[in-house]
Amino acid sequence: MLQQCASALVCPLCGASFEVEGRSVVCHNRHTFDLARSGYVNLLPSTRKLAETVGDNQEMLSARKRFLDGGYFDPLVDALRRSARESTEGPVEPEGYAVEVGSGTGYYLAAIKDALAGTPAEELCFFGIDISKAAARMSAGLHKDITFLVADVHKGIPLGSGNARLLLDVFAPRSPQEFARVLHPNGRVVVVIPGSDHLGELVSRFDLLQVHGDKEEIMLKDFEGTLRLTDRTPIQYDVSLPAQAVQDVVEMGPSARHLSDETRLAIDETTALTCTASFVVLTFERL
Ligand SMILES: C[S@@+](CC[C@H](N)C(=O)[O-])C[C@H]1O[C@@H](n2cnc3c(N)ncnc32)[C@H](O)[C@@H]1O
Ligand SMILES: [Zn+2]
Repeated sequence: MLQQCASALVCPLCGASFEVEGRSVVCHNRHTFDLARSGYVNLLPSTRKLAETVGDNQEMLSARKRFLDGGYFDPLVDALRRSARESTEGPVEPEGYAVEVGSGTGYYLAAIKDALAGTPAEELCFFGIDISKAAARMSAGLHKDITFLVADVHKGIPLGSGNARLLLDVFAPRSPQEFARVLHPNGRVVVVIPGSDHLGELVSRFDLLQVHGDKEEIMLKDFEGTLRLTDRTPIQYDVSLPAQAVQDVVEMGPSARHLSDETRLAIDETTALTCTASFVVLTFERL
């Protein structure tokens, strides 16, 4: 996969384009980044030390995989599949790509790739970007037909300008300027944020980190003047979670790092729970 898609990458150190040489990608100014055994490319400059808590760790990712595989967020997946098909209608250029920022286990990106099979957009290169090496390792192992990169979206997306037909961001950090830079003139940015009542019953029962009531407003302000909002689709439904899923949905999220022993015990003792799943899918295009 990397061989066919390496020309879409740009060097995070100098902006030059890359070629594959053996088990490395090398830019025209000879900056070299190795291909990991599991198949991802780490494009974080090697001098950069990340704090322990940056990016999802292995335990969070395993919980996320178990939870997502349970299909509890399927209505969101269906909406993303539809949106991906609508967003990528028409012919695609050879340098076109689709990318997910903060791709985690690669679950949503793989679903989108699958939804585009049989359309012209199946020719796009597919990239997943995450700051977590554990995420890149897991997702590269699970989805061999997608290229996974380790990079920090706040420092820049290591992909060429103007070629992203689709940029997906699900519950992950955002950089509107970078999103606008990589976006193709007909491309779409699809951002999913939690609704303010997302998993509300769990949040109040276990005193988890709460979604900011004005999260959407803050993010729209952030995008203002950079990208234009073209669609807003709220998704809300009740979901019944068995005990394992209750544990996993807590362990996979930001609360996992802040749980008291008491809360952990309460979660472990929970048998099952019905709660609200609530998302807002926001679609943007270039100004
Ligand atoms: C809440 S998870 C969502 C993962 C995936 N989109 C999903 O919904 O299953 C957020 C992801 O963003 C990644 N992440 C955090 N900070 C990042 C950054 N600065 N650049 C790129 N990825 C980042 C984390 O490692 C994690 O995988
Ligand atoms: Zn370079």
